[in-house]
Amino acid sequence: MGEEGGEGIFVSLVTNPINLVLLSVCAYLLYKIVRGNSTEDFGPPPNPGLPKLKQQDMTISELKEFDGVKNDGRILMAVNGKVFDVTRGKAFYGPDGPYGVFAGRDASRGLAQFRLDKDAIKDEYDDISDLNAMEMESVREWEMQFSEKYDFVGKLLKPGEEPTDYSDMSDSEADKDKKKD
Ligand code: HEM
Repeated sequence: MGEEGGEGIFVSLVTNPINLVLLSVCAYLLYKIVRGNSTEDFGPPPNPGLPKLKQQDMTISELKEFDGVKNDGRILMAVNGKVFDVTRGKAFYGPDGPYGVFAGRDASRGLAQFRLDKDAIKDEYDDISDLNAMEMESVREWEMQFSEKYDFVGKLLKPGEEPTDYSDMSDSEADKDKKKD
């Protein structure tokens, strides 16, 4: 029975059209990641000359300027209300990367629902309060992962929200601010 069950899953994986589409998407993303990483290993580091961005909060439209194509090629991305500098993850978020749709955008809904389509990445400020508990937990986990790997830039501002003045904050105070909420 165990063997039949296993075969059942395999048969359903390759015969169910939805599973086939999902498998192809995964294979494509994996291919892009592996290919991106291998060129990164041998090529020059991404944007070696970019200085660390000073701490600042930004609106959704300010965030859009940092899509890896405009200006100096810097890539910023928001996760759960926090903006991170993901330029060193250019293989993921650059224009040719598997997750390039997130560059200069708020990725929260896409990450929560494991989606990369246009509807998951809104042009306007996206209030994600409609996400369910599991999705919210997933966004928080992504946020933690990003905090460990990438530099925190500031908060993503809600419409009408005033930016924090970080100018007279020491680095450690600014870091504490990042850990708030
Ligand atoms: C289902 C097929 C998928 C496969 C096989 C796949 C595979 C991978 C792998 C292997 C990594 C780690 C790469 C590394 O650390 O070197 C990764 C990272 C990641 N994946 Fe996927 N992925 C898939 C789908 C998705 C989807 C649908 C999303 C978005 C909603 C997503 C978002 C991410 C993000 C944000 C990272 C982290 C990149 C970073 O460290 O900055 N993945 N994926």
